[in-house]
Amino acid sequence: MNKNLCKVSSQPIISCHDFGKQPLGNGFLNKEEFDKEYFFDMAIGFSKESLLLQLLEQPENSEMFHEEYAFFSSTSEGMKKHFKKFSDDIFNSKYFNNDDNFVVELGCNDGILIDNFAKKNIRHLGIEPSLNVADVARGKGINVISKFFEKKLASEIISKYGKANIFMAANVMCHIPSLNDVIEGIKLLLKPNGVIIFEDPYLGDVITKKSYDQFYDEHVFIFSALAIQKLFEKFNLELINLEPQLTHGGSMRYYLAHKGFYEKSENVDKIINQELNLGLNKEITFRKFSDDVKKSRNDLIKLLKSLKKEGKTIAGYAATSKSTTILNYCGIGPDLIDYITDTTPIKQNKFSPGMHIPIVDYEYFKNNPPDYAFLFAWNHSKEIMEKEKDFMHSGGKFLTHVPEVRIL
Ligand code: TYD
Repeated sequence: MNKNLCKVSSQPIISCHDFGKQPLGNGFLNKEEFDKEYFFDMAIGFSKESLLLQLLEQPENSEMFHEEYAFFSSTSEGMKKHFKKFSDDIFNSKYFNNDDNFVVELGCNDGILIDNFAKKNIRHLGIEPSLNVADVARGKGINVISKFFEKKLASEIISKYGKANIFMAANVMCHIPSLNDVIEGIKLLLKPNGVIIFEDPYLGDVITKKSYDQFYDEHVFIFSALAIQKLFEKFNLELINLEPQLTHGGSMRYYLAHKGFYEKSENVDKIINQELNLGLNKEITFRKFSDDVKKSRNDLIKLLKSLKKEGKTIAGYAATSKSTTILNYCGIGPDLIDYITDTTPIKQNKFSPGMHIPIVDYEYFKNNPPDYAFLFAWNHSKEIMEKEKDFMHSGGKFLTHVPEVRIL
């Protein structure tokens, strides 16, 4: 793949910001693996043709999604509630009203969303190439196929199960570089009255919150509605609704269908206009974003160094993939952050990708509370603030970098 061309339009990309060498966002590792750690050059660029903001280079799929994939969707109570509501929204929608529903989820992970359909005995299929998380879903009784989705797989699914009326994905479409082939497959799989419903971190929020940590190896695109509308239009699929979400620090849910089948909600033009006002179709917006990101890095390093100088202890709260970008881009290692606490067993007792900060369990955080905790899971701040009242009452403070670097 030519890194100077858009992955979707094959037209030249305008390079906008360079994050330098980055490891895998979820590449938590043991000491013995330090010397063979994988790095790639992470930079983002904008295509005037497709309007997609994208990584110029991305590691191979097999480097990122495999039998030891470290991200389990069900690690947050907030996300469980969100996906329960997501499924309720579908049950209560006009798209879900026939007796022969067949629901397909792309990238079902541990089943956090599709489980709500399986539990109701609705015909369903999860597609999840990362074997370990797929096995957790299977353990819940979910029907899962462990392959990467492409047009060929769509034909196999149709011959075995027939076409789908709901094709859904959450935080998955933005992982896929070969969107043209995948969308062709989705279109093939979709019944004439079928609907594609997916959500991903939203470019409008990334720009306004300066949340550059949404870029890491897996997130090859951060979408705008403008780009999604343009992309699916090529396949005669129409954007029929948009619903902003609070998850992942600001996401967008996209509804698409075969052209002309459903009426378009007025939300579509409303949000598209907001995006035009924000300049999400203009190179200059991403140049300005690059300046904001550089400033954020300088402010963060300055704050952490000054706290350290005062003799304060600083820990990271949650070993998110996002934190990998912050730590490596800002060059923050164990000299500034003593440890990162995380509730996911597969991450614990390992080291953070690239900067090699120790990852410890939650008990360790409870027993060794730092003076400051950097909120790497800032997108779960409500849930975490609720949980950490004791930490804060005993003088502990949180740090964040969104939308500005500050002590909370
Ligand atoms: P998320 O923002 O979904 O991560 P990513 O950037 O990888 O998409 O956060 C999930 C991670 O945060 C997961 O490793 C578990 C951890 N976490 C905690 O350790 N404690 C918590 O209270 C929460 C909400 C998450």
